Amino acid sequence: AAPLRLGIAGLGTVGTGLVQIIQTHGDLMTARAGRGVTISAVSARSRDKDRGIDLSAYDWEDDAVALAQRDDIDVFVELMGGSDGPAKDATEAAIAAGKDVVTANKALLALHGQALSVAAEEAGRLIRFEAAVAGGIPVIKALTEGLAGNEITRVMGVMNGTCNYILTRMENAGLTYQQAFDEADGLGYLEADPNLDVGGIDAGHKLALLAAIAFGTQVDFDAVELEGIGAITIEDITQAADMGYKIKLLGVAQMTGRGLEQRMSPCLVPDTSPLGQLQGGTNMVVLEGDAVGQIVLRGAGAGSGPTASAVMADIIDIARGLRLPTFGQPAKGLRAARAARAAVP
Ligand code: NDP
Ligand code: HSE
Repeated sequence: AAPLRLGIAGLGTVGTGLVQIIQTHGDLMTARAGRGVTISAVSARSRDKDRGIDLSAYDWEDDAVALAQRDDIDVFVELMGGSDGPAKDATEAAIAAGKDVVTANKALLALHGQALSVAAEEAGRLIRFEAAVAGGIPVIKALTEGLAGNEITRVMGVMNGTCNYILTRMENAGLTYQQAFDEADGLGYLEADPNLDVGGIDAGHKLALLAAIAFGTQVDFDAVELEGIGAITIEDITQAADMGYKIKLLGVAQMTGRGLEQRMSPCLVPDTSPLGQLQGGTNMVVLEGDAVGQIVLRGAGAGSGPTASAVMADIIDIARGLRLPTFGQPAKGLRAARAARAAVP
């Protein structure tokens, strides 16, 4: 089969990680996908920046929208970030130009995912975003594929590596908030706007996406009850430890009699529990289904390699011809199912 041709917009932490995977594991990826995966063109803000990778074999586009519309790409890979601006414009342009889209951009999808998924579905295109939730952990595949036979009853977890890193470094190494924050920055964990991390907003975006997939609802970030870690002091952490607890930025989504409940806030968890033991940038997602019971997934939630690993998995799925809709269920089908449920007295 003809190779799958990529256009990659964004060559930062995640974009360079993706290029490295394709350059070092090309044969392995071809064997797994059943066809080659090639890069036609790339784009970023600065053409001159030394990114530590060889980009000489790829065309350069200054403009991500132009990249998204190129005739020589099949998949537009959006790794720029931002809920609006070039990320949104280029994603819309890609869909309109008949391209599938792979993105790690939870902010974009939490705010515009519903409209983008309907546009993609109507155009017969895909938007895949495994990397957007819990970095390297294949949690979206777990929900949409591995647990497809279940009614999901609850989704919860620690989904922001920066916050978990800061909290655990303050606990274990006695670092100040600022020292721990600077270390997280050095590891490539932070969003371009770090207030999204420490304010709990980034984790809230991820929870809203997971909840929509798990419960077949529309993405509703505005309904997430949010509180970040900015007010947590070293005294809070010490007092919690004295009582045998750790403080974690924990998200919970569950269906209640009042509808979907989504909360992301600092919580006390027993320090001997799996969540209490979670260190550094690691994420943990707990999925509960009526048939399977509880599944616990743990792994790197941020960073170049782990996030690129998830982006690559989506690209390989597309190369293999897997055409699962964006949120695991067709948006139109979902609307019909919800209308039917609402009509039941
Ligand atoms: P970086 O800030 O490291 O890289 C962003 C890249 O996008 C840079 O190459 C930058 O260009 C380019 N870029 C930014 N704005 C524009 C623009 N207006 N036009 C063209 N190019 C632009 O971000 P990350 O790699 O960390 O994150 C990328 C995406 O992945 C984000 O959506 C983020 O939320 C998500 N993500 C990140 C994770 C991580 O661990 N870092 C984990 C999971 C998801 P230049 O280099 O020239 O400045
Ligand atoms: N800033 C995010 C985090 C990156 O710290 O978890 C991964 O989504």
